[in-house]
Amino acid sequence: MNQSWDALKDHHAAVEGRPILDLFTDGTRAADFSATADGMIFDYAKTNIDTRGRALLLQLAERAGVADKRTAMFAGAKINETEGRAVLHTALRNMDTPLTVDGQDVTIALRATHARMQAFAADVRAGRFTGQGGQITDVINIGIGGSDLGPAMAVLALAPFHDGPRVHFISNVDGAHAADILRGLNPATTLVIVASKTFTTIETMTNAETVRVWMAQTVANPAAQFVAVSTAADKTAAFGIDPERVFGFEDWVGGRYSMWGPIGLSIMLAVGPDGFADFLRGGAAMDAHFREAPFAQNLPVLLALVGLWHNQICGHATRAVLPYDQRLSRLPAYLQQLEMESNGKRVSMDGADLPYHSGPVVWGEPGTNGQHAFYQLIHQGTRVVPCEFLVAKRGHEPDLAHQHLLLVSNCLAQSEALMRGRSLAEATAIMASKGLTGAELDRQARHRVFPGNRPSTTLAYDQLTPFVLGQIIALYEHRVFVEGVILGVNSYDQWGVELGKELALALQPVLEGRAGTDDKDGSTARLAAWFRS
Ligand code: F6P
Repeated sequence: MNQSWDALKDHHAAVEGRPILDLFTDGTRAADFSATADGMIFDYAKTNIDTRGRALLLQLAERAGVADKRTAMFAGAKINETEGRAVLHTALRNMDTPLTVDGQDVTIALRATHARMQAFAADVRAGRFTGQGGQITDVINIGIGGSDLGPAMAVLALAPFHDGPRVHFISNVDGAHAADILRGLNPATTLVIVASKTFTTIETMTNAETVRVWMAQTVANPAAQFVAVSTAADKTAAFGIDPERVFGFEDWVGGRYSMWGPIGLSIMLAVGPDGFADFLRGGAAMDAHFREAPFAQNLPVLLALVGLWHNQICGHATRAVLPYDQRLSRLPAYLQQLEMESNGKRVSMDGADLPYHSGPVVWGEPGTNGQHAFYQLIHQGTRVVPCEFLVAKRGHEPDLAHQHLLLVSNCLAQSEALMRGRSLAEATAIMASKGLTGAELDRQARHRVFPGNRPSTTLAYDQLTPFVLGQIIALYEHRVFVEGVILGVNSYDQWGVELGKELALALQPVLEGRAGTDDKDGSTARLAAWFRS
């Protein structure tokens, strides 16, 4: 492994600064440095990875044992070693293939729960399950992190397929979130989903109580309009939710990987059981591709390797995710949890300090909006930000096809501009044609230089349907897996979120004036005193 990293670093030193454009000279690069899976294409030709670099990256993946780990994950081995759990979100979208874990075929329970979800969603959508004021018009999903980001992203992404009740999301413990969502809703026709794997998350339990109180002001039996999605049946019962309306799942489904199962109930209510089934089929298609395609043609492997090249080898600490698809505007936030909670670690599986940086900082906004905000830095700033473009061939608005064309041309133009840049000679010629001369020509031209040679990838798909969304999300999940295996980290725990939670609990009585600040540092003590005053 170390040899592979060293060889990659040596290769990078040898090619650093070489114009990416020079790699296109023989006319084969565009096809060679792209791969496809069930109608989607991933283009990584606009990076500084050449044939040797790719061979070394593929060797890294092989030596890291990605193939064996992949087999272990799909087979239900306990690869989440710090929590002693299997990692089986893939079973949620492959329920027809029996899978034995700890001597039991887990797909039997998965199918039963899925059938209950389907029946419940169908009843709500058809008006057979009603609120105390009639047909359910609105659904509120109360959850946070993995119990919010995936469903919220997917519900927005699939807007053209909505034919059920309106779906809203409350996540933040900031009361403003609940207040703004509840305003205008009718408690008597609102269904509430309390989505929490653990059913202990303070934000979710606090918001659930707030919404219950809100509902109790007008509805005789609020609990009858509550549904729970959780692994903790004892806690959902204690909250007063009828076991008939509790949809359980196992602890081997990680929170940020959970929207394929009951955590996706809000998606199913919005687009219907058939639309949700298409989403699962898309995920399963990507699973099959990940398991079967050779590494050199394997989208999750390639995305991971390109990411490792940019982050660990080239030293670019962040990656911009730029969907030219307004309905994917929550994708960057979703990926922040998926990637940064999974691979933002500092020790390897055995507890040793990592000898390299872990996962990148992921951020982004939809195009074309980002172009008018932060692209200035991406094009001319001193730091290189590898960009990941996503774009559909077709939109959902045939009447607005001319706008889609504009969208696509902007997307392609940005990756071209990042790679091509504009030289000082070109900028000087442009400014000279406007009549500038001498020192002023030189000064003005320098501001208009684009260094270029900035790497990007493009993931293009036909149209953002439930199936394609399933492909995209499973693609990113598997990319995180491959990256995690190569880095040697546990992608499936998240101990880094615990300390802040503990300290927040301890600060509550301080802010209420029931406890002192003797054990606090000066800054925290002073701030707490200011809030109390
Ligand atoms: O605090 C982090 C976290 O545990 C995430 O991993 C998880 O998705 C989120 O909180 C919500 O957890 P739960 O679904 O148990 O409420």
